[in-house]
Amino acid sequence: MRLKWVVFGLPFVALIALGFYRPAESAPRALPLAVVFSSEINGYLTPCGCSKPMVGGMPRRGTLLKQLAENHTLLKLENGDLTKAAGRQDELKAETLIEMLNQMGYDALNLGKYDFLLGIDYLRALQAQFRGAMLCGNVLEGGTPAFEAYTLVEKRHYDRPLRVLIVGLLSETHADAIRKRNPQLQVEPAQQKLNALRPQIEAMGDLRVLLFYGSAQEAEQIAQAHPYFHLVVYASSGDGPLPTKQVGQTRLVFAGNDAKFVGVARLSENAPYTLTQVDYTRLTDEFKDDEQMMAIKLGYLARVESENLLAMVPKRPTPSGDTFAGSRACMPCHAEDYRIWQRSAHAKAMQTLINEKHDKDPECVVCHVVGLEFEGGFQSMEKTPTLKDVGCESCHGPARRHVQDPLNNRLGKAGSQSCMTCHVPAHSPGFNFETYWKKIEHGFKKQ
Ligand code: HEC
Ligand code: HEC
Ligand code: HEC
Ligand code: HEC
Repeated sequence: MRLKWVVFGLPFVALIALGFYRPAESAPRALPLAVVFSSEINGYLTPCGCSKPMVGGMPRRGTLLKQLAENHTLLKLENGDLTKAAGRQDELKAETLIEMLNQMGYDALNLGKYDFLLGIDYLRALQAQFRGAMLCGNVLEGGTPAFEAYTLVEKRHYDRPLRVLIVGLLSETHADAIRKRNPQLQVEPAQQKLNALRPQIEAMGDLRVLLFYGSAQEAEQIAQAHPYFHLVVYASSGDGPLPTKQVGQTRLVFAGNDAKFVGVARLSENAPYTLTQVDYTRLTDEFKDDEQMMAIKLGYLARVESENLLAMVPKRPTPSGDTFAGSRACMPCHAEDYRIWQRSAHAKAMQTLINEKHDKDPECVVCHVVGLEFEGGFQSMEKTPTLKDVGCESCHGPARRHVQDPLNNRLGKAGSQSCMTCHVPAHSPGFNFETYWKKIEHGFKKQ
């Protein structure tokens, strides 16, 4: 009897140990809901990488959300300003971000004032691509709302369904900015819109969230007048997350802008629901880049290249009226300065962009070459190879006349202010003229 068990049982034990056999899956795991929120990506698909370490980016966000999804069902919300300017590159960025939000399964996106710079027609085209709900209920076109004011989504919280109402509104303080680009639009005051919606939405859903594109102060006033929200995500309040604030049953939250942080709010297991915990995760390089997000970003860079945006940068005359000669033209007379320059980081600034696959991206090239924004300046590696990299004339100014007749065309001082067009805090936070100059010091000896 016993022997028989051993004989029959042993292979079984071996199978379990090898991982081939698993008992039939019990009911799906009852996971708690977590609300993931952020405001104002402002066009930062990824950080530029100009200094290290850098924080943020959609590929890291992709990784964080996958990690959270292992133990939670997620409600994913984005509040305002996919991009921050108008122009073809911002359109491409906005389309790319919609693709990324779709890939991550975002439930709702509320619009902000900079989004309206893309124009209402373009926003409609983005709306058609977005698989979640594009909200902004108090912007009116010809008296009727241009976008939905709310959506109701069904999620699971532990072992039961949970209906979430998501309302999206924008502060009326942005009306003028929006009408400048879209004169046909009006903005109804957010509170007035909520007063009208209140009978409909006050008891709708088990959990009620407001995406509000406006300040903390305005969000607080709304929470006082409309106490039926559990969570209000606000915007336009700076770089980093702010401490949460409780107003009645409403928690006011802000996770900062530029895709650097993600906020995560958790709720009580049972109704009546309250938000028990809110955390902000800073997207440091501890989070790997999600491959699907990176693939979408590469698609964006390919479009920037194929549409040749680099060739479309507007050019203005140089202040002196002179044009650029290229660094090599200085070598015969300034051999030592040339040698020092050639060994400096400036002389490989274009190679850096090639390595990063951003060498056709005007937003990067502008600081990594000579004179992109000027007539006679850098156009492309093919047309103007001598103007790639940060060259002598990036600091000394255009010097063709000086090359031809140096003594009758003296160059003025470059000075420390010549560094400041490129070494701005966002790209060179550690810049200090004394220490940086030491690394590229030249020009004491005349040859
Ligand atoms: C406003 C000017 C400016 C813009 C725009 C800019 N850069 Fe830079 N970049 C710099 C400066 C200045 C440095 C050197 C920073 C330092 O060392 O303090 C730098 C350094 C870098 C470095 C680090 C090089 C190294 O080897 O350490 C990378 C990578 C880089 N940039 C990539 C980019 C990319 C990609 C973009 C566009 C998304 C971009 N840059 C846009 C000015 C700029
Ligand atoms: C046209 C834009 C531009 C201007 C002007 C400019 N830089 Fe730079 N600088 C860069 C870029 C881009 C890099 C990064 C190059 C790379 O590594 O690819 C850089 C890198 C450097 C580095 C190397 C940093 C390191 O950690 O090794 C030093 C030093 C530096 N710059 C000093 C200066 C100083 C001093 C000035 C002004 C006198 C100046 N730069 C003006 C764009 C500029
Ligand atoms: C044909 C020789 C020649 C060439 C080419 C040349 N320079 Fe000069 N450069 C001179 C002479 C000569 C002076 C004056 C030196 C003196 O006063 O001791 C000078 C002076 C300068 C000065 C000091 C300011 C001034 O004008 O006195 C700077 C800066 C300078 N050159 C930069 C450049 C740059 C940048 C290039 C390349 C675009 C370049 N030079 C090409 C000969 C040349
Ligand atoms: C990152 C900026 C930068 C780059 C690149 C650069 N220089 Fe300079 N250079 C300066 C600064 C700053 C000075 C200090 C004097 C001044 O402010 O003009 C200087 C000084 C000089 C001087 C002495 C000027 C004088 O008044 O005596 C010469 C000559 C010169 N550079 C030539 C060159 C040449 C040639 C190249 C390229 C091979 C080059 N520089 C690249 C910023 C730069």
